[in-house]
Amino acid sequence: QRRTFTAAASNYIDERTSLSTFVKELGRKAFPDHWSFLLGEIALFSFVVILITGTFLTFFFQASMAEVEYAGSYVPLKGVEMSVAMASTLDISFDIRGGLFVRQMHHWAALMFVAAIGLHMLRIFFTGAFRKPRELNWVIGFVMFILAMGEGFTGYSLPDDLLSGNGLRIIDGMIKGIPLIGTWTSFLLFGGEFPGTAIVGRLYTLHILLLPLILLALIAVHLLFVVVHKHTHYAAPGRTQMNAVGPPILPIYAAKAGGFFFLVFGVLALIASMFTINPIWNYGPYDPSPVSAGTQPDWYIGFADGALRLIPPGWEFVLFDRTWSFNILVPLIGLGLFIATVLIYPFIEAWVTGDKREHHIADRPRNMPTRTAIGAAGVTFYAVLWAAASSDLIATHFMLTMEGVIHTLQALLFLGPIIAYFVTKRVCIALQKKDREIVLHGYESGRIVKLPGGEFIEVHQPLDEYDRWRLVSYDTYEPLMLRPNDRGKITTGQRLRAGMSRWFFEDRIAPVTKGELEASHSNHH
Ligand code: HEM
Ligand code: HEM
Repeated sequence: QRRTFTAAASNYIDERTSLSTFVKELGRKAFPDHWSFLLGEIALFSFVVILITGTFLTFFFQASMAEVEYAGSYVPLKGVEMSVAMASTLDISFDIRGGLFVRQMHHWAALMFVAAIGLHMLRIFFTGAFRKPRELNWVIGFVMFILAMGEGFTGYSLPDDLLSGNGLRIIDGMIKGIPLIGTWTSFLLFGGEFPGTAIVGRLYTLHILLLPLILLALIAVHLLFVVVHKHTHYAAPGRTQMNAVGPPILPIYAAKAGGFFFLVFGVLALIASMFTINPIWNYGPYDPSPVSAGTQPDWYIGFADGALRLIPPGWEFVLFDRTWSFNILVPLIGLGLFIATVLIYPFIEAWVTGDKREHHIADRPRNMPTRTAIGAAGVTFYAVLWAAASSDLIATHFMLTMEGVIHTLQALLFLGPIIAYFVTKRVCIALQKKDREIVLHGYESGRIVKLPGGEFIEVHQPLDEYDRWRLVSYDTYEPLMLRPNDRGKITTGQRLRAGMSRWFFEDRIAPVTKGELEASHSNHH
């Protein structure tokens, strides 16, 4: 038999690397299918697009703040003094073939990247996919989320245009607002008085070397963990806590994911070619005096900008001949606490529920009303901060006073999450009740039948096996009970934990259990 070139080549490689064992093992792994599992992939594929386009940009971008007179082909700015960084970004946009397209693609991919990460994270949260054994992957993921925001911020600070300069000015102000060490820290970062001549070069090293390397390493570990833990799946016949049901990675899943990469790439290319993003030639070079109206950071930095706008002024006093300002420190600590809570949420929930089991079946969000309500409250908190980043635009568009908008948002920041918590919880419970009805009595058919005895009944349609698996819980868990310790005592810590556990499970209309289902069936018969 004649051996083809490919067979010979793969044999050559295999004899030297034993790669085939690995490929066989990995290729046979099952990868469960659901549209929401594509969110992580969109993040991954946008990152690949970012790497490709970013590398192109490094060939032409010059991270220098030396002053030059612009001499490129964009006429309105000819002769204007600007930094080399800005001039080279204008060159990328107007004088380098394909430059504007790649620049826009880099920026749009960055926006998509962070958006996909955010949605991916919400999917993980609301389905409880962060529970044992995936807690560490949640932490790694969240660290990547923060790094991605850092990448975005350092990225759009690079061109040294008016918008990026104003963004850096805010960061500088925040740093200087920290009592005692603020001014020194600012001088250290900027290499002297803001803006100095060093910051673009420093951010550049972070942007193209340090942060991407860390991200890349973490993504590798993240995906390795997805393979090691197996992917979660939604309940269905034959799917258990012990298996993963889906098409094998090779060839089906790999082909699908490969195709999906090109879709993501294509959509990003389409957006980049049709919609302008960051037209720095309209903003002009950075100059501390002008600020164009309605300027905003990229969407994912909005929440931090919003937090700054919502701080009530005047939290400062003079002591020991120094000004101690808490205008910045308090919200920074507040945001820090919020972020830290999200980071360790899997451990908090595990502690509160006392649930130490492994979970491979994803939750239906309604079956975990308290977690879902906490999530909704968190999203609302974030959304209010985000809205606050547009407080000036909200005021001008709706002809409101600036103070009115700010005060409303300040109140909403605290009331909104509470309202969202209770509304979400009630909605979840209502949906659970509906599920219960359906499981125990079947779907309403609208068909009324008269029995021989004269009684009218509505015929209910029994649900098929697939729906039953989806709706019935084979995996219930009870709140922690107060149990005396070895010395027969109940400590305050135990009381607190049991109380929180009861709160977590309270008014949970537990989904129908297997036992209930069987009981209802024998009744019917
Ligand atoms: C799963 C990529 C960020 C937590 C996945 C998967 C991919 C992926 C491709 C498998 C498919 C899927 O379930 O969507 C990424 C990339 C990220 C990122 C490229 C950003 C650079 C995050 C974040 C979190 C997170 C921010 C949470 C805070 C998880 C967890 C799983 C997972 C727990 C396992 C899910 C399961 O088995 O159901 N990630 N992710 N990831 N990701 Fe991410
Ligand atoms: C600029 C984001 C990774 C190279 C930018 C800009 C953003 C951004 C928003 C401003 C673009 C504009 O001018 O409108 C990101 C994000 C990344 C990432 C979120 C990773 C998650 C990279 C990598 C490289 C790179 C890995 C290099 C290999 C550049 C260069 C610029 C830039 C050279 C300056 C040119 C310009 O502003 O057009 N980045 N980037 N980026 N990025 Fe990235």
